[in-house]
Amino acid sequence: MTKKISVDDLRSRDWFMNKENPEMTALYLERYLNYGLTRAELQSGKPIIGIAQTGSDLSPCNRHHIELTKRVRDGIIAAGGTAIEIPVHPIQETGKRPTASLDRNLAYLSLVESLHGYPIDGVVLNIGCDKTTPALLMAAATVNIPAIALSVGPMLNGWWKGERAGSGTVIWKAREMLAAGEIDDAEFMEIAAASAPSVGYCNTMGTATTMNSLAEALGMQLPGAAAIPAPYRERGQISYETGQRIVDMVWEDLRPSDVMTREAFENAIVINSAIGGSTNAPIHLNGIARHLGVPLDNDDWQGIGHKVPLLVNLQPAGEYLGEDYQQAGGVPAVVGELLAAGLLPHPQALTVNGATMGDNCTARRSTNTKVILTAEAPLKAEAGFINLKGNLFDSAIMKTSVISPAFRKTYLSNPKDPEAFEGRAVVFDGPEDFHHRIDDPAEKIDENCILFMRGAGPKGYPGGAEVVNMRPPNYLIKQGIKALPCVGDGRQSGTSGSPSILNAAPEAADMGGLALLRNGDRVRIDLTKCSADILISEDELAERRAALTAEGYDHPASQTPWQEIFRDRVEQFDRGMTLRGADQYRDIARQNRPR
Ligand code: FES
Ligand code: MG
Repeated sequence: MTKKISVDDLRSRDWFMNKENPEMTALYLERYLNYGLTRAELQSGKPIIGIAQTGSDLSPCNRHHIELTKRVRDGIIAAGGTAIEIPVHPIQETGKRPTASLDRNLAYLSLVESLHGYPIDGVVLNIGCDKTTPALLMAAATVNIPAIALSVGPMLNGWWKGERAGSGTVIWKAREMLAAGEIDDAEFMEIAAASAPSVGYCNTMGTATTMNSLAEALGMQLPGAAAIPAPYRERGQISYETGQRIVDMVWEDLRPSDVMTREAFENAIVINSAIGGSTNAPIHLNGIARHLGVPLDNDDWQGIGHKVPLLVNLQPAGEYLGEDYQQAGGVPAVVGELLAAGLLPHPQALTVNGATMGDNCTARRSTNTKVILTAEAPLKAEAGFINLKGNLFDSAIMKTSVISPAFRKTYLSNPKDPEAFEGRAVVFDGPEDFHHRIDDPAEKIDENCILFMRGAGPKGYPGGAEVVNMRPPNYLIKQGIKALPCVGDGRQSGTSGSPSILNAAPEAADMGGLALLRNGDRVRIDLTKCSADILISEDELAERRAALTAEGYDHPASQTPWQEIFRDRVEQFDRGMTLRGADQYRDIARQNRPR
């Protein structure tokens, strides 16, 4: 370790050893002594390490962090630091109404205040459930004090009737079985519970495994820290090592802006394709990048990521689950395979252990090529996203690799026009409207229809609802039609494998083109040109635009003060769903030392 700063440079000295103002020092000190910390611990120049605690009874996915934090503290103390646990606003993906995504920016804001306004020299970010990871990385980016992320780890593999039962994914499957009358409610519940056998986050390649893998891909976790299942002994061990490492990072003054560079984001985009990462990833990575002042948009995701092969065979795109991912080598093995094929753009990107991504992973290979494949024999050739544009929206993401052969046969088999399809729009204004109308025979929905979901973006359904992957009417499912093309301004769960066009920006509630669409319109989607358009004349479009400007797009009223503040300030999905203006506050720990 090369020490770059001295004891006097520690932020915490402003509070606990302020030579110009001993009175304030006494005031700051006395209250931290009242639960047993000693003056020596606080004044002898040990870095104060915050542990951003996202685990709680309200956050079951991250709850195991409460246990792991004991090992993090041991590591911090062993390396000569003092640990202070910081409660973070709880986020639980499936339990929070209207959506956990609404709270990402709230957890971000509160952690920024905690890290900036209190005597913290470095921080361990307890990541896990979907939005906890971006919330904490965004806060670390804004404050820019030394920071290291620690995953809580995925749950053990779930099993049902001898087959792997993956979080979320098995529930989508069971829902289809329930709709088709193959199982009853009790069995539906049994299947759901089977997919959650232990502490930890979703064991599929949903948004949680994606974002935890990408925290490692960005260089913000110790190598191998993302994939270790929560109950494994290695999880406790890496917690200890993470605690040790953050103390050295404070002395080295190694900050998020040194690690999360443009190069690191380009690596992460490539790794996201290789792991088959969630369509929520562009929202979160674009958001983290904004807080660092790193330019990143959805054109980068297509340009850098689309042609990268899929190497990781995890549900929903593949077969396996979290324990298999770990046993095949986790993120270092994926990066090692990409490096061997010359596909990682920036091996020299720095990571939190002080070494580069190349140093950490060059010697690593898959130890089970059924789970992590090689780049020569991948699962799919082009696993990234395309970025669609047209009169319906300026940007929307689609994961083309999850298009099924059946879907391809129905919609993409015209030899004259192989990658394009047209259909009649069936438009739903929010999930409630969808539930009311989808099975109504009067809608006459058939396989020539395209289902549209609007009013489900960051403003319309504050935070953006995960509702774009819509099931066909039950009468079509019974005829064997399991999927219709879906388009929308909402999101889709990372555990769903549907080939939807989602995260459309600007959303209907932000006066985007989706608000101009009418039930029955013809729509054309072209996957080669990456276009999506309503097939009406320019004049008709202008008339509808004028009417929309006059009337506005209706969305349900806010239910809480935060929903109103969020709607007022939120940016669109393509801009990371950050709060307008928040990205102007950068590197605030250094520029703006509290007095
Ligand atoms: Fe929390 Fe999936 S619901 S990790
Ligand atoms: Mg989700």
